[in-house]
Amino acid sequence: MASTDVDRIKEKLNIVDFIRGYITLLPAGKNFKALCPFHPEKTPSFIVSPDRQRFHCFGCAADGDIVTFLMRYENLEFPEALRVLAEKAGVPLQTLSPREQREFGVLYEIHEKAKEFYRDALQTHGAARAYIEKRGLKPETVEAFELGFAPGGDALTVHLINSGFDVNDIARAGLTHKNTAGLYRDHFFNRIIFPIMNSVGKTVAFTGRLLEGAAGEGSDLPAKASSPAIALATEGAAAGAPKYLNSPETPIFNKSKILYGFHMTKNDIAHARSALFVEGQMDLLMAWQAGVKNVVAVSGTALTPFHLEKLRRLADTMILSFDNDEAGIHALERSLDLLNNFDFYVKVADLGGFKDPAEAAEKDPGFLAGAVASAKAAFSHLFAHYFPRDEAGTRELTETKRIVRSILQKIKRLKSATEQTAWLKGLAKYSGISEVMLMKELNELPMVPRDVEAGEKFEPKKPADRADALAERLMGLAFTKGDFLATIREKQSWLPARYQAVLGEPEGETGAALQMQASYLLAQFPPDCIAKEFSDLLRQLEISVLKREQRELKTAIQKAEEVGDEKLLTRAAERFHSLSKRIDELKL
Ligand code: UTP
Ligand code: MN
Repeated sequence: MASTDVDRIKEKLNIVDFIRGYITLLPAGKNFKALCPFHPEKTPSFIVSPDRQRFHCFGCAADGDIVTFLMRYENLEFPEALRVLAEKAGVPLQTLSPREQREFGVLYEIHEKAKEFYRDALQTHGAARAYIEKRGLKPETVEAFELGFAPGGDALTVHLINSGFDVNDIARAGLTHKNTAGLYRDHFFNRIIFPIMNSVGKTVAFTGRLLEGAAGEGSDLPAKASSPAIALATEGAAAGAPKYLNSPETPIFNKSKILYGFHMTKNDIAHARSALFVEGQMDLLMAWQAGVKNVVAVSGTALTPFHLEKLRRLADTMILSFDNDEAGIHALERSLDLLNNFDFYVKVADLGGFKDPAEAAEKDPGFLAGAVASAKAAFSHLFAHYFPRDEAGTRELTETKRIVRSILQKIKRLKSATEQTAWLKGLAKYSGISEVMLMKELNELPMVPRDVEAGEKFEPKKPADRADALAERLMGLAFTKGDFLATIREKQSWLPARYQAVLGEPEGETGAALQMQASYLLAQFPPDCIAKEFSDLLRQLEISVLKREQRELKTAIQKAEEVGDEKLLTRAAERFHSLSKRIDELKL
């Protein structure tokens, strides 16, 4: 069993020394305290206990041992964390269970092998090499980020099978799939391959960019059938294939958690305490090549709190450089809210006339470093974008109102009053609306944060009804405080089943999301406000539970009337009445 590995690791590694390698620990009696690395905070609520060899955060309820810490901090899966720790402890791992070996180990091995295959394929594919050169990527960059080429057909599948891997595992790794004719086909066809590595540099997925200009762009290339077992497929496939394609999610790849290029750039980010945030793989590589080494990108997904949680530990400032178009501005606005929640100082690097950072770096290698150095605060950038000097007065009033409101909404979310005042002044200057009016409007805006922020990215599913919505929010709050969690455990039966399951397994996917949500709420609202919210919600949840029972009773009463069951009728009516009384009490 794997637990014996863990035991042997724990004998060799002290959690206090280990965590000290990541964050600053201060003595607190026989324990140690620190600013929690898992939620933003200003006073330490993260405790490490040498006696118990565990950590616990009283702010966000993060809790665990040395393995959990590493998993969470470096965003690793269990077997991977185990491997890293075993190496550090000098303990040979013997006992990963066969299930774990199959689940994870083989996936990493397949990715490693596939990466080598793609890299070699690039060497022999003239058109792919020419494309990479045309994009301005230098050999050093190609090598550092281990780019490759996917010829497609069944070439990789066959290669991996010949290397001894089971085709089912290759499929689980997302690198092959059965087509409609029942033949295995590679996931990536005719694409430049960008390996995606986790924080410790293990390849966990790939992104493929269509090779422009090649015959049959966006289609399955005619493959060389190299194995009789896996015969040539002839389906043409994917007209309108996406320009960029990611590996599907697998047990080792969760794209809402992973940052592209991060393993290469995290030290530079930590050193600068800031990062240039770009949208795409090419942007990242070209910026890196142009000397902006503290750069980071997501892989074909929106920014999530998971990404930011990771970055927040290394940096205070994010410098955004998205595409120079409307879509880019919208991405910027969306990201700004999230970044402000994590208390980043957010700037925007102006791209001038270039369409994206990759183009800027290609056409003018010195440009990005300059743009980063002279990046302006994100709000200034928004003001200048929405209120350009020469267009003053030409916009419809309703449009102006909408823009002003949306910017005010962002200002309202800011944690620092000083910052709020400063940006209100700025907005007044640009919009020509007086500060007093803006202030009035700001005060009238509803406090949005809760639903909007915690909502989008986190919800494992959108709550279907009121009980779900209440439970979702209550659970988020429950993870802010041990007392709340205890209360919720007592009232478990009021919760929809899937939330009850989370209580049993708080470290699961949903639990983790809710804990993240909790860290938001904590950062956002004063503790007494959270306590009041918690009791309010609990009351509302009880009401909704009682009302549901009333609805069921109504049906029962109708039935009892139909069949003339007096006894049942009386009992149901009595129960109905007492429920009404309790509901009235709760509503007071
Ligand atoms: P862009 O279309 O701006 O890509 O999308 P780009 O990096 O400028 O592409 P090039 O320069 O033509 O190669 C921005 C990012 O959105 C993701 C990719 O990560 C891309 O880099 N994306 C884009 C996808 O995931 N799928 C797509 O089909 C397109
Ligand atoms: Mn782009």
